[in-house]
Amino acid sequence: MRFGVLGTGMVGMEIAGKLATVGQDVRMGARQANNAKASSWAIAAGGSASHGTFGDAAAFGDVVFNCIHGVYALEALRAIAGPLRGKILVDVSNPIDYSRSPPGLTVCDHDSLGEQIQRALPETRVVKALNIVGCKAMVDASYIPGEHDMFVSGNDGEAKAVVTRIVSEWFGWRRVIDLGDIASCRGTEAFTILFHALWKVYGTPYVNIQVAARPKG
Ligand SMILES: NC(=O)c1ccc[n+]([C@@H]2O[C@H](COP(=O)([O-])OP(=O)(O)OC[C@H]3O[C@@H](n4cnc5c(N)ncnc54)[C@H](OP(=O)(O)O)[C@@H]3O)[C@@H](O)[C@H]2O)c1
Repeated sequence: MRFGVLGTGMVGMEIAGKLATVGQDVRMGARQANNAKASSWAIAAGGSASHGTFGDAAAFGDVVFNCIHGVYALEALRAIAGPLRGKILVDVSNPIDYSRSPPGLTVCDHDSLGEQIQRALPETRVVKALNIVGCKAMVDASYIPGEHDMFVSGNDGEAKAVVTRIVSEWFGWRRVIDLGDIASCRGTEAFTILFHALWKVYGTPYVNIQVAARPKG
């Protein structure tokens, strides 16, 4: 399978690195085609790893990961709607406003960044996933010890099944809970508020939750 990874930050690096390690063809995208971090990554990853603009990476991937800064992701993705048409877009971004402490969200309550992206790209199959944990745990669930859960949200069941397989088989997530349509990512985006509070309590961003439920009936 071919993957596009939009983003040269720590998340883009972890996801692109893991996908290359498990033998996939990966192209990392940045705003500029000659981005030094993306170029160094592609050289170090070797094999078929490559880099280019956000648009180049989107065109390359069957599945594309959005690892763009949450404040800029919507506009950056809107600009590459063409190459993203028909693709699965795994949206890892969070709409965090760090201008005040503790941080807040730039969109919340009756909307979310995942929904905004899906509305802007109606022909792209957006699946929100991985956004609740620090980047090393995204690609290796065991980086946080014990049992804990991942969530997916999206309108397309087949796309969610593909993403669930990727995060289970390659990233080690033993339980992936399908929350429902893309609007359900309001919850996982808002979880970042709790995440920051837990980070403060435990002194590490490597924290997560396990869902406990009393069986129906
Ligand atoms: N860090 C984590 O552990 C973590 C955990 C959960 C979710 N997330 C989410 O994952 C995403 C990536 O996080 P990150 O920490 O790896 O990096 P980041 O610093 O949030 O984002 C880096 C990427 O954003 C792009 N970018 C920055 N300003 C831009 C602008 N004005 N217009 C378009 N693109 C712009 C950069 O482009 P260039 O490559 O061209 O510089 C780069 O590719 C974020 O949405 C974040 O909320 C992060």
